[in-house]
Amino acid sequence: MRILFIGDVVGSLGRDTVTTYLPKLKKKYRPQVTILNGENAAAGRGITGKIYKKFLQDGVDVVTLGNHTWDNKDIFEFIDDAKKMIRPANFPQGTPGQGMVFVKVNQLELAVINIQARVFMADIDDPFRKVEELIAEARKRTSLIFVDFHGETTSEKQAMGWFLDGKVSAVVGTHTHVQTNDARILPAGTAFLSDVGMTGPYDGILGMKRGPIIEKFVTALPKRFEVVEEGRSLLSACVIDIDDQTGQAKKIEPIQISEDRPFEE
Ligand SMILES: [Fe+2]
Repeated sequence: MRILFIGDVVGSLGRDTVTTYLPKLKKKYRPQVTILNGENAAAGRGITGKIYKKFLQDGVDVVTLGNHTWDNKDIFEFIDDAKKMIRPANFPQGTPGQGMVFVKVNQLELAVINIQARVFMADIDDPFRKVEELIAEARKRTSLIFVDFHGETTSEKQAMGWFLDGKVSAVVGTHTHVQTNDARILPAGTAFLSDVGMTGPYDGILGMKRGPIIEKFVTALPKRFEVVEEGRSLLSACVIDIDDQTGQAKKIEPIQISEDRPFEE
């Protein structure tokens, strides 16, 4: 099974970039499942029902989220009906939505899990224990398991990768918006990448307008951050090949598309 995972889509520029490049990526890589992190899709904060539907129309199979899940209040209107969308599974019990979803591909099934880290982030439930619980549940149905670990620090993400080595097919980090250069297959067969990076404005700071962010660093005064809505864009993603029988990863290839790294058919 081949999976395409597109990193944190930021604002309208990010969404347009997905619409432009997803058909090209599908033609080139022929993934069976396309997963996308959409927690910054609505003007940099959260997601709306309309945007979720557009992602599905564009050919996305599963949308994952993160710490910005609740930032756009529209989420409460559609989360219960959004069967292909998952939010971090370690939010407190009773939180709306789901943290794991299964995708059918012919005779096979892929379990997709979204989990959130805790270092420099909200103090939610233990991601390590929660992910073990979900893996035990998933394994009753399939050995093909993909984990989007939404977190700030490379240490916590590496710890999760090694913790799950041999237990899942892939652990890929999201949230920092900068793609790391450490894609590898861990010894027991789990594909790992600390962070897949973002999709959206190429000339902002993590997708936001540079001015207020630089000013905040220079003056230490509070500033309002706004998403960049026009200009050049970047797409960050990775492709993972999994052995259908064992669930072990065979290959992970990071992808970046920008003016500096043009797409090759
Ligand atoms: Fe995030």
